[in-house]
Amino acid sequence: MITIPYLTALTTYFSYGLLFAFGQLRDFFRKIFDWWSHNSLEDCFNRPICSSPDAWFDVVERISNDYNKTLKRTTRVDRCLNLGSYNYLGFAAADEYCTPRVIESLKKFSASTCSTRVDGGTTTLHAELEECVANFVGKPAAVVFGMGYATNSAILPVLIGKGGLIISDSLNHNSIVNGARGSGATIRVFQHNTPSHLEKVLREQIAEGQPRTHRPWKKIIVVVEGIYSMEGELCQLPEIVSICKKYRAYIYLDEAHSIGAVGKSGRGVCDLLGVDTADIDIMMGTFTKSFGSCGGYIAGSKELIEYLKHNCPAHLYATSISPPAAQQIMSSIKVILGEDGSSRGAQKLARIRENSNFFRSELQKMGFEVLGDNDSPVMPIMLYNPAKIPAFSRECLKRNVAVVTVAFPATPLLLARARICISAAHTREDLTKALEVISRVGDMVGVKYFPAEPKKQQLEGEGIKMD
Ligand SMILES: *[C@@H]1O[C@H](CO)[C@@H](O)[C@H](O)[C@H]1NC(C)=O
Repeated sequence: MITIPYLTALTTYFSYGLLFAFGQLRDFFRKIFDWWSHNSLEDCFNRPICSSPDAWFDVVERISNDYNKTLKRTTRVDRCLNLGSYNYLGFAAADEYCTPRVIESLKKFSASTCSTRVDGGTTTLHAELEECVANFVGKPAAVVFGMGYATNSAILPVLIGKGGLIISDSLNHNSIVNGARGSGATIRVFQHNTPSHLEKVLREQIAEGQPRTHRPWKKIIVVVEGIYSMEGELCQLPEIVSICKKYRAYIYLDEAHSIGAVGKSGRGVCDLLGVDTADIDIMMGTFTKSFGSCGGYIAGSKELIEYLKHNCPAHLYATSISPPAAQQIMSSIKVILGEDGSSRGAQKLARIRENSNFFRSELQKMGFEVLGDNDSPVMPIMLYNPAKIPAFSRECLKRNVAVVTVAFPATPLLLARARICISAAHTREDLTKALEVISRVGDMVGVKYFPAEPKKQQLEGEGIKMD
């Protein structure tokens, strides 16, 4: 027979007791969390669509027997106005110039090279594409990758390592955050889009040097985005560039949401804000938004691109970008530049800008709190209260307007929002319909946080004297 010392028994009981208590507590909180996260608003996210994400698209109906915890698709679809896709220039759907060329390239090159860039996965298309991208963004050379996320997450570790310093905007995308962490460099964050704070961090870090040894940093890279996609804000690029020059830090600019979408010739924030691309050391962007394709690019000096091509695993080991996808990018750039022999590109660029500025100013007039800057096609409408998320989303969808709502953890807990993305593919009629619906739903849900000032004349007409 085993006899257990009294103390051991006591501590064992105690441990079990603790485990039990924690288990109960966890179950309790899980129930609350489940109720919050599944039962009530699961239907507002990951809505399946069954057409290309054009100005209008088909949203598949889903039903649930368990308070929206699990959702089943039906065969019914609703034609909805699409305010959720990053289809800035309208290249996400079939295009009279791009699509036939993409099909031709599929016949000529097949769907995939089935190999890496260095093992026969570089076709003439890939070489042409890199030249085309470099020329478009205004840099001597470029390298393209099959995945946008990996363009950030795999490149940063090749550019910088231990002994280096990355200074990152506090709202930079997850791909940048992961790339920075994977690099082994020291990471410091500056207040979102605040050049004065960037300067403060730079000055402090340069004075302090590397941790422990206090040796000077081997390299400093400041990483910013052209347009912040959750905020709809443009980068304070001119100020940031002059600070980077002053402190001799490299600047890495992620243009995932700005390339093609802004600027007189669609060349992104440098084009829009009058920054010389020679002042941006590393220009990064993706092809999934404005160009209706996939993948990403890095553009920079010839030496930089050569170096990346010899050292970056995303170039050496990943399957090269699919030839039809490469063709789609090149064709859409040709349209943007007017090299297709039409003025469609120029019209698209004018339309995205007019559409965005019209929509933003109308929303503001209606009393919504809209984040972001003029010219930005991304405009978050603040909802704040989590109970307003499903209400806003569902009521818009009921009226055939599909909007994306974003909540914690993608935003801070209190800053839930609906994120509107405007496209050059939207007509004025589309936008007017969307505004009508959003205004109506905004009244119902109570998210017009800045009601317009009462009109002077109207009040005076009612016998109320102003001033
Ligand atoms: C489930 O989703 C539907 C459709 O989006 C909505 O109308 C309904 O109120 C939701 N039910 C619950 C219990 O949240």
